[in-house]
Amino acid sequence: LEILLKGLRRLEYRGYDSAGESDGKSPCHQHALACSSGLFPSLSPHCLPDNDIDLDVEFDVHLGIAHTRWATHGVPSPVNSHPHRSDKSNEFIVIHNGIITNYKDLRKFLESKGYEFESETDTETIAKLVKYMYDNRESDDISFTTLVEQVIQQLEGAFALVFKSVHYPGEAVGTRRGSPLLIGVRSDHKLSTDHIPVLYRSCKFKLKNDTCLFPVDEKAVEYYFASDASAVIEHTNRVIFLEDDDVAAVMDGRLSIHRIKRRAGDYPARAIQTLQMELQQIMKGNYSSFMQKEIFEQPESVVNTMRGRVNFDNNTVTLGGLKDHIKEIQRCRRLILIACGTSYHAGVATRQVLEELTELPVMVELASDFLDRNTPVFRDDVCFFISQSGETADSLMALRYCKERGALTVGVTNTVGSSISRETDCGVHINAGPEIGVASTKAYTSQFVALIMFALLMCDDRISMQPRRREIIQGLRVLPDLIKEVLSLDDEIQKLATELYQQKSVLIMGRGYHYATCLEGALKIKEITYMHSEGILAGELKHGPLALVDKLMPVIMIIMRDHTYTKCQNALQQVVARQGRPIVICDKDDYETIKNSSRTIKVPHCVDCLQGILSVIPLQLLSFHLAVLRGYDVSNVTSGSEGTDNPVFC
Ligand code: M6R
Repeated sequence: LEILLKGLRRLEYRGYDSAGESDGKSPCHQHALACSSGLFPSLSPHCLPDNDIDLDVEFDVHLGIAHTRWATHGVPSPVNSHPHRSDKSNEFIVIHNGIITNYKDLRKFLESKGYEFESETDTETIAKLVKYMYDNRESDDISFTTLVEQVIQQLEGAFALVFKSVHYPGEAVGTRRGSPLLIGVRSDHKLSTDHIPVLYRSCKFKLKNDTCLFPVDEKAVEYYFASDASAVIEHTNRVIFLEDDDVAAVMDGRLSIHRIKRRAGDYPARAIQTLQMELQQIMKGNYSSFMQKEIFEQPESVVNTMRGRVNFDNNTVTLGGLKDHIKEIQRCRRLILIACGTSYHAGVATRQVLEELTELPVMVELASDFLDRNTPVFRDDVCFFISQSGETADSLMALRYCKERGALTVGVTNTVGSSISRETDCGVHINAGPEIGVASTKAYTSQFVALIMFALLMCDDRISMQPRRREIIQGLRVLPDLIKEVLSLDDEIQKLATELYQQKSVLIMGRGYHYATCLEGALKIKEITYMHSEGILAGELKHGPLALVDKLMPVIMIIMRDHTYTKCQNALQQVVARQGRPIVICDKDDYETIKNSSRTIKVPHCVDCLQGILSVIPLQLLSFHLAVLRGYDVSNVTSGSEGTDNPVFC
C-alpha cells in the first residue's frame, strides 16, 4: 500500500481531486483514499480518511491498483473515486485515465441487461462491460486479455486502463488508447529479453517463453503499470511504453503484450527502454515549468475540449451538459458572460461570434464590476460563469446574485464538482486537464473553444447559418495542427524576448477578434514578468494612447486578414508616423503587411473567429521567455487564480 500511495504522490503534480486504491485481498477490497473539492487532497498516510486502512497488516498478495482522479463525470466523492467495480462482490475492478465518449449508450445497454450502477462516472461502464463479457463468454477458458480486448472494441474516446479480477487471481491487464500507459520493470536479475514480441489475435498464439518477459531462473520481478514514469522511477528506470490498443498482461510473473490485429507499419515488438531522467524532469517533461508545459499541451487540450462533442463529418455539436436547457437558452433575451482575469478575456474573445450566431445581445462582464454596479438581471437572461477553477469568489458571488434574480445560470469550468459547476443550473466542462501553472494558458484556449461550441449549438437548426457553421466546424477540425505550427515559432519568439526583456513596458494593439488577445497578452506579461504591459483597442489609439508611442516604446500589433484589416493598417500607419517600430503578429500569407513591417511573427490562417486562438499563443510564449530572461521563477509568481487552492505553487 505504501508503494501505491507513493506512486500516487509522484503523480500529484498532474493535479487531482480524489483518489482510491484496491489492495490485493480476495475478493478485491476498495478504499476511497481522499477526496476534496479543491486540488490536491492529502495523500499522506496519516491524513487518510476514516476508512479501515491499516498499514501494518500484511497480505499474501502480489497485485494492488490505485488511482488519482481529475473529475470529468461526477463530482469528486468516494463513490466516484476509482477503482470502479463490476458488482458488489468486486468480480472485476478497473482504474481509468481518459474519457469514454460513448459511455451513455453503453450504460443504457448494460442497465437494460440488469447491471446496477452506483457512480456517475464514465469509468464504471467499463467495469460493468467486462463483467457482461465474462457472463456471456463463449468458452469457460476465456483469458483475461481476450475479455479486455472485447471490451476495448466497444469503447470510444480516450483511455488508459488497468484491470484486476477475482476470476483471474494475481493477474493484471492494462491497455491504452489516446491516454498514456507504461510498464516499469524491476528485477535484480537478468531478464529473458529486452524486446517483447507483440502477439496478434489474428494468428492463433500460445504463450511461450520467447513471447513473454520474465527473469531467467524464475527470480523475482516487479511490474508497475503507470500513466507516467514519475510514478515508478524510484523503483526502476526500465520501462516499456505501450502503444494505442496494446493489451499487456502480467500472469505468473510473466509479461506479455497482445493486439487484436496488426496494422500496416506496426513494429511487432516493444522494447524495454532505460530512462536517464530525474524525477523532477519527468514530471515536467522537457519543460522548465508547468506554464511552459501547458502552453505546449494546447494541441491536445483543445482536442479534449471537443472530444465526443464536435462531429466533423456531419457538422454537428452535442453538449450533454446543456441538453436539458438548450431550448430555454434559445428563447432567452440576453446572454451575460461573467468572469475574472483570463476567463473574462475568453468571453471578450468569443463575444462577436456569439452575437453573430445567436443574434442575441451579449454582455461580457468582469464579475467584481458587475457586482459593484448592482447590474439589472432578469428572469429571461442567461448568465454564463467562466472559470478555470470554478471557485473564484467574485464569479461565485455574481452567480448567486443572478440566481436570486431568476436568471438561468450556466457554468463553463475546468473543475468538475467545483462550487460554480455545482451551483449553476447547467454547464460545459472544458476538459483541458489540470492547469497547474498559475498563469492560465490552456484553460483560455479551451474556454474559447467551449464558447464557440455553444454558439454553434445555438444555431444548429438555422438554415441560413449552415454555411458559416460548417466553415467554423471545419476550422475547429484543423485547429490542433495550426496550434502546433504556431508553437514551432518558439525559438523565434525566444529570440524576440532577448531583445525586449530589459524594457519597462510593452504595448499590445489590435481590434475586432484580436482585442481579447491584446488584453490577455498584456495580462500574461504583467503577471509573470512584472513588466508594465497594456492591451489597447486599436480603434482607441487616436483617443489618447498614441501619446505613449515613440521610437523607444516596444509595440506589438496584431493585424489579421479579416473585416478589420484596413482599419488595422491605418493604426499601423499611425504608429509608424510616430516613429514606432511595431512587431506585427500577422497571417503568414499577408505579404502586404510582411513587406511594410520591420518585424513580423507569422502565424497560419484559420477561420476569422478562431484566429484569436492562434494569435494569443505567441504572446503566451513571449511572456514565458521574458519572465525567464528577467530571472523570475515562472512557477512562483504571486498573482493568479485567486480561487484555486494550489498548494504546490501558490
Ligand atoms: O479560476 P478562474 O478562471 O475563475 O480565475 C480567474 C482569474 O483569477 C485567472 O484567470 C487569472 O487571471 C489567471 N491566472 C491569469 O493568468
